[in-house]
Amino acid sequence: MEPNMTSLIMIFGATGDLAKRKLFPSLYRLFERGKLSEQFAVIGVARRQLSNDGFQQSVKESVAAALGEKGNLDQFASHFYYQSHDVSDSDSYISLKKLADEIDEHYHLNGNRIFYLAMAPEFFGTIALHLKADGLTDVTGYKRLVIEKPFGHDLESAKELNKQIRTAFSEEEIYRIDHYLGKEMVRNIEVIRFANAIFEPLWNNRYISNIQITSSETLGVEERGRYYDSSGALRDMLQNHMLQIVALLAMEPPISLTTDEIRSEKVRVFRSLRTIESHEISDYFVRGQYGEGIINGEQVPKYRDEPMVDTESNTETFVAGKVMIDNFRWAGVPFYIRTGKRMETKSTKVVIQFKDIPMNLYYQPEKMLNPNLLVIHIQPEEGLTLHLNAKQAGGHLNAQEVKLSFSNSGTYTMNTPEGYEKLLFDCMRGDATNFTHWDEVAYSWAFVDKISQVWARTKADFPNYPSGSMGPEAADRLLEKDGYHWWPITDLEVENCR
Ligand code: BG6
Repeated sequence: MEPNMTSLIMIFGATGDLAKRKLFPSLYRLFERGKLSEQFAVIGVARRQLSNDGFQQSVKESVAAALGEKGNLDQFASHFYYQSHDVSDSDSYISLKKLADEIDEHYHLNGNRIFYLAMAPEFFGTIALHLKADGLTDVTGYKRLVIEKPFGHDLESAKELNKQIRTAFSEEEIYRIDHYLGKEMVRNIEVIRFANAIFEPLWNNRYISNIQITSSETLGVEERGRYYDSSGALRDMLQNHMLQIVALLAMEPPISLTTDEIRSEKVRVFRSLRTIESHEISDYFVRGQYGEGIINGEQVPKYRDEPMVDTESNTETFVAGKVMIDNFRWAGVPFYIRTGKRMETKSTKVVIQFKDIPMNLYYQPEKMLNPNLLVIHIQPEEGLTLHLNAKQAGGHLNAQEVKLSFSNSGTYTMNTPEGYEKLLFDCMRGDATNFTHWDEVAYSWAFVDKISQVWARTKADFPNYPSGSMGPEAADRLLEKDGYHWWPITDLEVENCR
């Protein structure tokens, strides 16, 4: 047990979806695995009137829904308290402080506090300002702010938000969540790269022709139409999750694994992103919006018919782009990224395509050698596949593709912890490595703003891809004009990688 794992966690938005689906089950798993001592407590904060008993009941139900019935749920839930709260009213914070102080004393929490904002982003700034003004951040232990995305809507609003939260918390105390950084295989990228003599020497523009990152979803916008229609795939997925994966794939080896060293290498990647000028956007980026179609055998409506979505909406539900990193290592290597809703399959994968060998001895008419690929399976399967060429069994010296596969889930018998569980654990330990630093946020917004500003000004011809497809044709042309193609995601799946 690590000594500083004692903590009072205040969850703002405790009756919301994120708390129920992710946070309570993740806290339970930490508790079950003995990572939380008896010295922890949670205050759920939300607008709704609810008793402690009512809240504890909802915590138990959420954990049971996510993980099944558990024997020690009562013991776990007894650490949970509730306060009905108005985020813009000082009196609410004053009574919250009183409750927090009492609980702190009862559980001997040493004044350690985590403020987790799991609610609508428009309140982030207000809450941070009140936490300071009303004395909740005057603690004897550590204080940390965990903040969910979106961190702003563009660079300007992100700066404003940052300014507000920085009045109450220092940069080191701010844990900006990007839940992709909690995913096992996203965390594995640096280890695969920096712990293997055979990859790092090839990890550059002399040997890699292009890198493809796909994160496709089959779900539509569900009940989030109001948020999503003012956000779109560029802000919702690309500004954060996709660019974070780019940074991990492209960064230089850090001199050590400290938070500062890793973050500063990532920031250097963001600084090297080629700026795309307004008149060039269509050479680099493609947007899409789903029409109706069939997903898992069921007819689904088009985006513009989803609840709380403008029937003339110009919001993209798909984005594909070519990102260039103008530095010595990556000059000339396109990083193609694509993400979208209502696509053919739910999958996140990275494909590293190596350059062709200088001369092909095994050429046969109409059959070129396959390039070597390294595929990193992020989800749903977790693993690695290396595509090589080897001799076909039997007579001739014909080369055929063989795949070496490693399955994370098959190798480790226990389930790998869920992303939120790891991130909560990191935050309690004070390890901010897998949270985004302000500089990363600022550079990625600056990159994305150039694109979103042009797209906001020009009406797109939507819908332009049917639900259940891999996006608009223009996304294929983006690669074709460079002489490449997207590696079909479903062909890359390998049975033993599940
Ligand atoms: C969230 C987005 O950040 O990531 C959602 O807001 C998206 O729109 C989700 O569905 C995807 O996460 P995952 O872990 O299912 O790939």
